[in-house]
Amino acid sequence: MRQQCLGYGVLVRIAVIGCGYLGAVHAACMADLGHDVVGVDLDPGRIAALAAGRAPFHEPGFPELLGRALSSGRLTFTTDLEEAARVRVFFLCVGTPQLPGSNAADLSFVDDAVRSVAALVAASGRTAVVVGKSTVPVGTAARLAPLVEAVGATLIWNPEFLREGYAVRDTLTPNRIVYGLPDGEDGAAAQEILDDVYADQLRRQIPRLTTDYATAELVKVAANSFLATKISFINAMAEICELTGADVTQLAGAIGMDDRIGKKFLQAGIGFGGGCLPKDIRAFTARAEELGAHESVGFLREVDKINLRRRDRVVDLAKQVLGERLVGARVAVLGAAFKPHSDDLRDSPAVDIATRLQGLGADVVVTDPAALPLLARLHPALSQAEQAEDALRDADLVVLATEWREYVVMDPYDAAELVRTPVVIDGRNVLNPARWRRAGWTYLGLGRP
Ligand SMILES: NC(=O)c1ccc[n+]([C@@H]2O[C@H](COP(=O)([O-])OP(=O)(O)OC[C@H]3O[C@@H](n4cnc5c(N)ncnc54)[C@H](O)[C@@H]3O)[C@@H](O)[C@H]2O)c1
Repeated sequence: MRQQCLGYGVLVRIAVIGCGYLGAVHAACMADLGHDVVGVDLDPGRIAALAAGRAPFHEPGFPELLGRALSSGRLTFTTDLEEAARVRVFFLCVGTPQLPGSNAADLSFVDDAVRSVAALVAASGRTAVVVGKSTVPVGTAARLAPLVEAVGATLIWNPEFLREGYAVRDTLTPNRIVYGLPDGEDGAAAQEILDDVYADQLRRQIPRLTTDYATAELVKVAANSFLATKISFINAMAEICELTGADVTQLAGAIGMDDRIGKKFLQAGIGFGGGCLPKDIRAFTARAEELGAHESVGFLREVDKINLRRRDRVVDLAKQVLGERLVGARVAVLGAAFKPHSDDLRDSPAVDIATRLQGLGADVVVTDPAALPLLARLHPALSQAEQAEDALRDADLVVLATEWREYVVMDPYDAAELVRTPVVIDGRNVLNPARWRRAGWTYLGLGRP
C-alpha cells in the first residue's frame, strides 16, 4: 500500500548508505521532502553526532535541516544496516577516494556497500531499488548490476552534482537529475519508484534525463572534467600573463563577456581542490587508459599539472619576497578549506601551501572560520589562530588562500597595523590591488602585474 508523502507524491522508505558530505545532506533532504529515511554509516562517531543533531561538517543550512528532519521523526541514523531491512530504495553515497599510489578510484567502499545491501535485500525477500550516487568510473554500474539483479533488485545510477557550501539547495533544487537505467521492464519499474522519491523536484519541472548506465556515469565525470579544465585554462593564461605583464583578471573579464565562454569558473588563483575535482579527473584518466583511450583525456593530465603549478607559484613568490628571511618568518595563511562555506580539507591548496611553507622553515599560522577543528585533527603540526587578527599579528607575509568573505572585505589599513611587514599574496585574486597598495602593502596577485 503506497502512502501519500506530505500531500504530493508517494512516501518512500529510504536508506542512505554512507553519511559523509553527500549522504548526510541527501538523507536529511529526503526526510525533509517527507520520506522515511535511515542513514547508515560505518563510523560510529559520525552516526552519534548526526543522531544527536550535530552536523559533523560545516555546510550552511544543514544543521537546521538536520534538526527539522530529526524532530519530524522521519530521519534516523544507525551503524547497523539491518535496521534498513524494510527499505524500498537504497542510496549508495559512500566515498570513492583516489587509491594510494595510483590515479584510479578506490571502489572498495562501493563494492562492499553493494554486497551488503544485496545480502540484506536477499534476506528480506522484498523488492528494492539500489541507487548509486557516488562518483564512479564508467563501467562500474554495469559491473555491479548483476550482483543487484541476482537478489531481485534493480540498480540505477543517479550521479550527484551538489556543490559543498550549497549542498542543501543543490540537493533540493538540482539543475538536473540524471538516471542511468537498465533496459526493459525492470528499469521502467525502478524509474517509477525513483520518480516517487524525487516527486517534489519533478513537480517543480526540474529536468530529469534518463540514460544508460555508462552515459550517466560519464555525465558526472565529464562535467567535473570540464569545470577543472576551465579553471586550469585561466590559470594557464595567468602563467602567460606573469611572463608578459598582462592582467589575467581583466583578460578573464573580457573573454567571459562572450556568452559562449561565460564568466563562471574563470577566476585565476591557486586552483581547485576538495574531495571531487582532483580525484575525479585522475580517476577519469586512469579509466580512459584501461579503455585504451588515454589520448582522449590526456589533456586532463595537463589540467592537473597546471593546477598544482599554481601552488608552486605561491611558494616561489614567498621565497622571492622573503628571501633568506623565509626561515623563521611568520606567515599568516588566511583560509584552510578548499573553498569558502565548507570545512573540507581534502586536497586543499591552502593546506598544501601552508604545509610547504612550514617545511621550508617558516613559522606558519593558519586561520579559517570553519575548518580549524578538522585542521587540528588532520594537520596537528600546523599552528592555528581562531581569529584572523591573531594570525596577522606580526606577520612577515600574508597569503590569502581561501576566499572567505571576511578576508575579501578585510580593511587593508587595519590589517597593515597588525602585521610586521605588509606583504600579501592574494591567492584568489579577490583583493583590490590599488587599495591594498595605497594602504602600504606590497600586493602580489596571481597572473597580475
Ligand atoms: N562531497 C561532494 O561535494 C560530492 C558531490 C558530488 C558527488 N560526490 C561523490 O559522492 C561520494 C561520497 O562523497 P563524500 O564527499 O560524501 O565522501 P565522505 O568521505 O565524506 O563520506 C563517505 C562516507 O561513507 C561511509 N562509508 C564507507 N563505506 C561504507 C559502508 N559500506 N557502509 C556505510 N557507510 C560507509 C564513510 O564512513 C563516510 O562517512 C564520492 O563518490 C564523491 O565523489 C561528492
